Amino acid sequence: MILVAGGTGHLGLELVPLLVAQGTPVRVLTRDPDRARQRLGESPESGFGPGGQGPKAVDYEGNLNLIRAAEAAGTRRFVLVSMEGAAAHHPMELARMKYRAEEALRASRLDWVIVRPNPFMELWAEIAGGPIIKEGKATVFGRGDNPINFNSARDVARFLELALFDPGLSRTILAVGGPENLTFNELVGQIERTAGRKAVVKHIPVPMMRLLSVLMRPFRPDLAGLIGAGVAFDTVDMTFDASDLRRRFPQIELTPMAAVLGEQGAATAGRLAQIKASEVSRL
Ligand SMILES: NC(=O)c1ccc[n+]([C@@H]2O[C@H](COP(=O)([O-])OP(=O)(O)OC[C@H]3O[C@@H](n4cnc5c(N)ncnc54)[C@H](OP(=O)(O)O)[C@@H]3O)[C@@H](O)[C@H]2O)c1
Repeated sequence: MILVAGGTGHLGLELVPLLVAQGTPVRVLTRDPDRARQRLGESPESGFGPGGQGPKAVDYEGNLNLIRAAEAAGTRRFVLVSMEGAAAHHPMELARMKYRAEEALRASRLDWVIVRPNPFMELWAEIAGGPIIKEGKATVFGRGDNPINFNSARDVARFLELALFDPGLSRTILAVGGPENLTFNELVGQIERTAGRKAVVKHIPVPMMRLLSVLMRPFRPDLAGLIGAGVAFDTVDMTFDASDLRRRFPQIELTPMAAVLGEQGAATAGRLAQIKASEVSRL
């Protein structure tokens, strides 16, 4: 039995069906079992856990609770989804909390694999692309000319599957990335071309994002975390060289951003067509 904590999010929606399709029994830990069933169907079982807020509560304390529970249950392997660049003194709170969870896992009695993905294409294409498609507006963090490596959540799910079952990956850190490094300005440009729409681009200055992140932390730690990621996007080296990953795992073809944008564009066009069709049928 594989327990997937956070199995209803971007990554979970790729990983859980992959495991279910193989016939692996899966249980999803969720705060909302009904919504989990809507998203994932009936095959994976779902239970619920208490909600928490922000990187400290979710990514450190939440993971620590899971590690302790896994030790008590005699779990065979614990796969931790961390993030590329996780470090004790990283400027982003999320990266520091991920690192603390990594340390706790390494010090545990468990067999472990730590997977460190880069930012998910699907999420960032949604964040950058939604306002471009809906309102012709784009918001860029800082200058937007720092190269960032993005990877598809679908590819990350395939690496997680290996991390769960490959004996050769025991007690190792697997850095996962995508095939290209793109600046945020380049991402906006790619979305504009896919959507066939030019956007009015607004840049949020880094000092303003730092201030917002600090001010919001007590009330909206989740949003503060997202703004913190925006700061990192413009100020931290977020490039990744995928050549080693490709050499070690040639069976996993790394998805380019253009393919994800094409799929998301097609899905959006499909939704718009459905809305138009239902408007027509109401007339
Ligand atoms: N997104 C990225 O760009 C990225 C990059 C590198 C690493 N990662 C890591 O990859 C993992 C999956 O990312 P994701 O983008 O798929 O995650 P996500 O969609 O943001 O969230 C995954 C699930 O976590 C649960 N969750 C969210 N907030 C919570 C809270 N405050 N308390 C308790 N549960 C909460 C939710 O499940 P329920 O609502 O069902 O409870 C949610 O569906 C995370 O560990 C993330 O840090 C993500």
